[in-house]
Amino acid sequence: MTSAQLFNGSPLDSSIWRICLCGIFGCLLHSGNAAPIIHSGLKQLEYRGYDSVGVATINDKGLFLKKDAGKIDEVHAMLDLDDLPGSIGIGHTRWATHGAPLKINAHPHTDCSQRIAVVHNGIIENFSILKETLLNKEHEFVSRTDTEVIPHLIEEEIIAGANLEDAVRTAVRQLEGSYALAVISAEEKDKIVCVRNQSPLIIGESVNGLFFSSDIPALLPHTNKVVYLENGEMAVLSREGLVIKRIEDGSIVSRKLTELSLTMEMAQKKGYPHFMLKEIYEQPETLGNALRLQRNYLDLIATFLDRAEELYLVACGTSYNACLAGSYMFSSLCNLATIPVIASEFIDQYGGAVGIQSTVLALSQSGETADVLHAIDYSRYHAATILGLTNTLGSTLTRVSRAYVCQQTGPEIGVAASKTYTGQLIVMAQLALRLSKIRGKVSQDAIDELEARLAQIPDVVDKIINGQAERVKEIAKKYSDARCYYFLGRGISNSTAAEGRLKLLELAYIPSIAYPAGESKHGPISLIEKGFPVVFICPRDSTRKAVISNIMEMKARGASIICILDETDKEMMDLADDYVPIPTNIPEILSPIPYSVPLQLLAYYSSVEKGIDPDQPRNLAKSVTVL
Ligand code: F6R
Repeated sequence: MTSAQLFNGSPLDSSIWRICLCGIFGCLLHSGNAAPIIHSGLKQLEYRGYDSVGVATINDKGLFLKKDAGKIDEVHAMLDLDDLPGSIGIGHTRWATHGAPLKINAHPHTDCSQRIAVVHNGIIENFSILKETLLNKEHEFVSRTDTEVIPHLIEEEIIAGANLEDAVRTAVRQLEGSYALAVISAEEKDKIVCVRNQSPLIIGESVNGLFFSSDIPALLPHTNKVVYLENGEMAVLSREGLVIKRIEDGSIVSRKLTELSLTMEMAQKKGYPHFMLKEIYEQPETLGNALRLQRNYLDLIATFLDRAEELYLVACGTSYNACLAGSYMFSSLCNLATIPVIASEFIDQYGGAVGIQSTVLALSQSGETADVLHAIDYSRYHAATILGLTNTLGSTLTRVSRAYVCQQTGPEIGVAASKTYTGQLIVMAQLALRLSKIRGKVSQDAIDELEARLAQIPDVVDKIINGQAERVKEIAKKYSDARCYYFLGRGISNSTAAEGRLKLLELAYIPSIAYPAGESKHGPISLIEKGFPVVFICPRDSTRKAVISNIMEMKARGASIICILDETDKEMMDLADDYVPIPTNIPEILSPIPYSVPLQLLAYYSSVEKGIDPDQPRNLAKSVTVL
């Protein structure tokens, strides 16, 4: 499941489109039409995706379906999603993570007879093998999604004589991957069958019927009585009520409904006080998603990078800090010198040099930042090759890039980047690894080792968030009156220092300075006085000894030393006034990912400590679309 495409003037429909975010919602009502309820449920789930939408309902006359690409309001204005008959239905709102959002790829997907409809959130990893088998049995496919195999597998079982419930159970046992899905059939007009494996699915019950949803907020307008499906379980919603069964053996699961006491806002933030904190805590999952990018697309970008005679890494703000980290990764793994440039400086600084020999890799989570697009327009005009890394499929960056990769972090609501930053870092690391393989600059053993460590990064980040948040909160409290902070690092940790500084100043309004630690004695040290907080980013890597010298210099002048350090580094702990331990054995090029997490938390808690809203710091916008 990934997202990289060649661009040749129009979106190229050459790839398999797969979805891993998205929201599903549906209901079986005792009275009234299902479609308007599904429409409003999908609106509540819009934060999960909004590039295409669809609803299917059933009644005595059969199955009815409307879907198209576009935001829910746009599609509703075109098709009137409320105007579908029947009291039972399913719906889907999509966040495409691969390929252009088109009507044929919007859910629900149907079987050959168009009597079975399926909505799906997740990834079917073995879909191509299943599809081949189904094609051999003369099933007809219309989309490029992995999901479409599901209605056809169910159709096979129904043709063989199974009822809907058994057909779904047999079909899903053939699936590998993650899925929350819901199925309706025109042959069984009083039933919805839902299944869960890895992707979230919650069932709600009210006096007027049964509901299912990817998330709580969409259920709350109807009921606060819910039951969470577990992996490997299916729920059969019918006029007789709700029955939960194990997929494995069909045995009944007895589970009571839980009564929630949540407001809508609390539910949207999943119980976290702010979106920013929620997004920080989501990183183990979003990093995991970014690790499932399809290799061939990373290879495609890596091939372009390999051909580059000169490579500019262009971005603004946090995305620029990811470029900085990337420049160290490409250098150490691929022997490739790159030029990280702040987008608004690009034309003045390098405009005269840009030409056909240049490649520009632009990083922009929104894909709409005006400074980045301006630099790209200029570069295209001068015949440079444009590559993109973004979190927003269909954004301008994807349209102007020769090839791009989508990091699959999902929507980020907090204005300050957190999960999108680590998402950019993990994609850059994968690109560097791919390029390294192409160039043969690092031994296979070293690559294998790095790949193994990369796979552990989501767990490492999970450990940091869950183990160290309280400690970071205390540090934020202790230094909340600081007039200024320093963030210092060497090597690749320079990028982490720069990001820590940006987060703190934009969220807590504390003037902060980031410097390469080795440079700090050439000027910045003059600011140091007793109690001045200096954050050192000090993984156990090749820079460690030199960093210790820099710590000693600062300490001698009365600075308060805060170290983000390796959990085994006792010597460094003794030097620090405060420290945050990071799991050991993190390879140097991957360290910006875990080491930036405590700094996100520091900025978040410092902001809260000062009574600032971390989700909406003053004067800032999520996407800066002016030059
Ligand atoms: C800081 C932050 C901004 C963005 C910058 C670029 O927390 O979010 O600095 O990184 O505005 O945005 P994108 O990545 O959308 O181009």
